[in-house]
Amino acid sequence: MSLLDKINRDTIPKHIAIIMDGNGRWAQKQGEDRLFGHNFGVEAVRETLKAAQEIGVEYLTLYAFSTENWKRPKEEVDGLMDLLVRTISGEVDELHESNVVISSIGDMDGLPPSCKEELQAAYDRTKNNTGINLILALNYSAKWELIQATKEIARRVKEGELEMDDINDCLMSDMLCTKGIPDPELLIRTSGENRVSNFLLWQIAYAEFHFTDVLWPDFKREDLYKAVLDYQSRERRFGLVSAQLEKNT
Ligand code: IPE
Ligand code: IPE
Ligand code: MG
Repeated sequence: MSLLDKINRDTIPKHIAIIMDGNGRWAQKQGEDRLFGHNFGVEAVRETLKAAQEIGVEYLTLYAFSTENWKRPKEEVDGLMDLLVRTISGEVDELHESNVVISSIGDMDGLPPSCKEELQAAYDRTKNNTGINLILALNYSAKWELIQATKEIARRVKEGELEMDDINDCLMSDMLCTKGIPDPELLIRTSGENRVSNFLLWQIAYAEFHFTDVLWPDFKREDLYKAVLDYQSRERRFGLVSAQLEKNT
């Protein structure tokens, strides 16, 4: 029985978020520079997207560039921005053909104009599609997102548009870049690092974590299936006890 056949189609996570890590180490292992690894990472994105589409995932969020990544050497940052523009412009036709909706989360204003333009064109082109939502986390960090949300809430309270008592879980979720998107049930991180690195801190409150040693450029469809199978083996209790869950099913 293949990994794909083992997946229970009734309990596929609606939203999978991935911290795509390990491009630099992958390149180093081949004696190449870090950008070589980033380039190969694009193929892993293609494969992962196809696997997610195949099993019916509705939202796939990929952490592509954090606010902290600006601190890397200029050559790497420039190379990554260039790769982003080239990849989006090169892939958008095929993504549109396969009914993908492209969007992003993060501070778009901090991206180079060419990136912003390419992204905007991709959003406009694919916005009426009805397939999987591919969400790129670009110039994103959860702390930045939470500060933005807090400022907006404070402004509304100050202007009298909002009462203090209106501040709740739903309001907070609506103030984030992920407004309208269900929280990820599954968070995957590659490359053997077991940390969250400022990604979706609010939204992963109840996510299941799957850590794998696979370096991102080596990540294949089977690796996504393995992560989903791992997710499906967990008991998600949300604070209850097992007996209560059994009663409810
Ligand atoms: C992830 O790979 C890609 C980005 C952060 C842009 P890294 O570039 O972090 O690769 P490692 O962790 O140094 O191997
Ligand atoms: C997290 O990876 C960010 C992305 C995958 C875009 P990093 O490689 O930047 O994270 P740290 O520095 O190891 O925590
Ligand atoms: Mg890294």
